[in-house]
Amino acid sequence: MTTRIIGTGSYMPEHIVTNDDLAKIVETSDEWIRSRTGIGERRIATVENTSDMAAKAAQAALRQAGIGADEIDLILLGTSSPDHCFPNGACEVQAQIGAVNAACFDISAACSGYVFALNTAHAFISTGLYRTALVIGADVLSKLIDWADRGTCVLFGDGAGATVVRADEKGILGMNMHSEGAKGGVLTCGSRSNGNFLLGKKPDLGYMTMDGQEVFKFAVKKVPECINEVLENTHTFKDEVAYFVIHQANYRIIESIAKRMKIDADKFPVNMEHYGNTSAASVPILLDEMNRAGKIKSGDKIVLSGFGGGLTWGATLLEW
Ligand code: UT7
Repeated sequence: MTTRIIGTGSYMPEHIVTNDDLAKIVETSDEWIRSRTGIGERRIATVENTSDMAAKAAQAALRQAGIGADEIDLILLGTSSPDHCFPNGACEVQAQIGAVNAACFDISAACSGYVFALNTAHAFISTGLYRTALVIGADVLSKLIDWADRGTCVLFGDGAGATVVRADEKGILGMNMHSEGAKGGVLTCGSRSNGNFLLGKKPDLGYMTMDGQEVFKFAVKKVPECINEVLENTHTFKDEVAYFVIHQANYRIIESIAKRMKIDADKFPVNMEHYGNTSAASVPILLDEMNRAGKIKSGDKIVLSGFGGGLTWGATLLEW
């Protein structure tokens, strides 16, 4: 028994912020952002929080799957920007959609959050513990960014993507997850260790910090490694794969991965031009767009891969 995606959904805030809009608040330009990242605009949440976007994406996925929220046994939310430390974001989604029978928790693996959550759901489903799960990636990094730091503020956008997964004969063929905590300092956010009354200062969560070039090097090395690993472990040739759906951080990262793996770049769909880097949401948003556009056929083999803070990275191979 394996785990099959039976419904996809996504939700993006309405408010569009273009590169030209950002050029009015930091020293940057549309030309610099497009040529270095492939990003043209992003959606920024004004009225929604992470759980609101996640719940809307989840409802769309449930509608497509044709099942009721009460049939969900497990909700896993990949996020690094939950509305609260507790209750967790998955519980807040549960409350909004009425998934009263679900166990709910968040997976904190930054931009790898959805892939880690999907693989975790698969571990529960393939062992028979649960039958149906809602796996979501959602982030509002706009609320964690220093909008005076041009090195990070031009990269990210807000959004949510969700999948309903269920035990089936066909679906996930293989997966892996990796972490390297010793290199965590290259991408950090939200320190909770720097203030209490004894230290004489208030806790200051702090903004995101990033060593962009280190993250770039990490991604172009580790993503091909974990994709090759999942292909080798499942005796799958790369030519058999219809699409490689990779975390949408930067077009140049995806181009380098395709080149390094000697795979036609056309097999790597991209949508960061419109949404920027939506962190844990990027893989399920792209998957939902492809699914709704009728680009994925039954039997297609698809690789999903996420990478990001932690450092974390991983891949999933599935048959649609
Ligand atoms: O989900 C994972 C999250 N993170 C990532 O995926 C980030 C991965 N890294 C990257 O995507 C790239 O490293 C960046 C897009 C962040 C930066 O591109 P880069 O080609 O590595 O540029 P750089 O950091 O080497 O900076 C080149 C120049 C610098 O100026 P000097 O020192 O050459 O004068 C920067 O200060 O570009 C400058 N710069 C900017 N200029 C205009 C940095 N940010 C900007 C900006 N607009 N927004």
